[in-house]
Amino acid sequence: MSARNISNSCSQKRVTVPQILARKGGDPIVCLTAYTAPMAKLIDQFADLILVGDSVGMVVHGLESTLDVSLDMMALHGRAVRRGATRALVVVDMPFGTYEEGPEIAYRNAVRLIKETGCEAVKLEGGAYIAETIQFLTDRGIPVVAHIGLMPQAKNIKGGYKVVGRRQQEWRDIENDAQKVAEAGAFALVLEGVAEPLAEKITSLIDIPTIGIGASNKCDGQILVTDDMLGMFQKTPTFVKRFADLETEITAGLQAYAEEVKARTFPAQEHTYAMLETKPELVVSNAT
Ligand code: KIV
Repeated sequence: MSARNISNSCSQKRVTVPQILARKGGDPIVCLTAYTAPMAKLIDQFADLILVGDSVGMVVHGLESTLDVSLDMMALHGRAVRRGATRALVVVDMPFGTYEEGPEIAYRNAVRLIKETGCEAVKLEGGAYIAETIQFLTDRGIPVVAHIGLMPQAKNIKGGYKVVGRRQQEWRDIENDAQKVAEAGAFALVLEGVAEPLAEKITSLIDIPTIGIGASNKCDGQILVTDDMLGMFQKTPTFVKRFADLETEITAGLQAYAEEVKARTFPAQEHTYAMLETKPELVVSNAT
């Protein structure tokens, strides 16, 4: 292998957990969600970390919330994404009901996800109360991304999807959550729907990177649901910027297809298979 090849293959190496940790306070960490191999392949060129989020339930499967997402679904999508991404660190979400009961069950389910998908790490929602589980997993070789603030899996107890930290009296508990999950060994912390000053304070308080979603640019990195930022949906939350308008593009493409099929202008000649040319048969005259 030539020196050039060696340096090429090194630059293709997958981002590691220690590399993400080392980005604390440094260059912002670029993260996005993916649920399929082709999308993971595209995102892989730009992202440090790809999350196979349980948002797959709503975005891909048309579920009302993430609560109905199963371990089987996460395993299937995790496997697909990991196949598509060769460079980014791939993290898979643990779905509702697969880790809250206790460290042993969480470990068993996390092992299943890691073994079946090949993903490097799992993410789970929860603050101080889940710290023991995070410690159990990390002690046994499973890297964990924690997730606090607005926790979609807690939507029923909270009465919806509520931004946190807009009142100072809420801060203490959330700061405590952040410190506990960081001390337990999480290597990154997703802050979802967190008011800017609190996100900034938490980011300075803990020594692992914070990944914001609706939590201002004061975090160490950012994540968005890819389908949201590419404009697949008309209605998006305040914190989402539509970096493309795929819904309009796709609708235009579908409409043009339907019109051309109805007008019989598609398929045209260039999309059509003709007969293979055959040599004319030799005619032998039997005439005497
Ligand atoms: O499920 C998901 O997509 C997430 C991120 C948006 C943080 O948890």
